[in-house]
Amino acid sequence: MSDLKVTVAGVQFKNPVIPASGTFGYGREYEQFYPLSKLGGISVKGTTLERREGNPAPRVAETPSGMLNSVGLQNGGADKFINYELPNLATKNTRIIANIAGATIEDCAKLAGMLNGTAVDMIELNISCPNVKHGGAAFGTCCDTAAQITAEVKKATDKPLMVKLSPNVTDIAEIAKAVEAAGADALSLINTVLGMRIDIRNRRPILKNNVGGLSGPAVFPIAVRMVWQVYNSVKIPIIGMGGIATPEDAIEMMMAGAAAVQVGAAIFADPFAPLKIIDGMDKWCDENGVKSISEIVGAVKPW
Ligand SMILES: Cc1cc2nc3c(=O)[nH]c(=O)nc-3n(C[C@H](O)[C@H](O)[C@H](O)COP(=O)(O)O)c2cc1C
Repeated sequence: MSDLKVTVAGVQFKNPVIPASGTFGYGREYEQFYPLSKLGGISVKGTTLERREGNPAPRVAETPSGMLNSVGLQNGGADKFINYELPNLATKNTRIIANIAGATIEDCAKLAGMLNGTAVDMIELNISCPNVKHGGAAFGTCCDTAAQITAEVKKATDKPLMVKLSPNVTDIAEIAKAVEAAGADALSLINTVLGMRIDIRNRRPILKNNVGGLSGPAVFPIAVRMVWQVYNSVKIPIIGMGGIATPEDAIEMMMAGAAAVQVGAAIFADPFAPLKIIDGMDKWCDENGVKSISEIVGAVKPW
């Protein structure tokens, strides 16, 4: 048995595997299969100040080695999260990462403030959503807005703040540096990669939203590259995700520089994927003489 414990921004996780936001709900469906206490933590579905319906269906489409989704931020709003989901999650003996989002900086800061004093262990601020006050471009696509939202949310919260980066940018390292300078305690990446599919029979996009986010094994090499670039550009810890489906993927992501990993789309193919990844990482460590999983963070030796 090797030591799978990792610490990210002062928060200790019993192992480095965390279901990714939007792919695990609040754990209620999955706890019928296994105790949530086996997981390093859970990143819950993106929460906004007010309840949201999400985008119209169809909002998922298959792709080679992955999926497209345009679910949008369908959720019950901050009050429901705090009063209904959080009390349940708090009994599960796993770390709780509150994934938050909003259409304005003020909304995000207010929501972050509402989580002060709750059982939430860490905030994950999703900056891939449109900034309605600036023509709808995502906060995370520009260094200035990414830094502004980070600074305001940081001021409002007493929790460690992790900012989740969008891969739909020219230079992810520049955004990461801006967010670090604005006070983020950690980074997570990547969110989904913008994509599109068309049904050639009716010449219409498959998704009602026309475009959506690509996730699953198809994006894995993009995610590894971005985590590695960011690892070499900032000092704060990174939680890596994007296409992780096997223990070997998780180890590769950690060698690129991730202190922990999140698993998303793979859970739809196999609800037990996170547990299999944890067990496989443990076995890999034993077989490779790795006493503590943290030893492999950033261990890649570039040519
Ligand atoms: C159906 C679906 C819903 C998602 N919802 C959210 C969300 O609410 N907030 C968020 O930050 N990311 C959301 N994501 C992105 C994932 O958390 C993750 O960043 C992305 O899917 C890449 O990881 P993967 O390839 O392992 O799925 C969602 C992804 C999927 C597939």
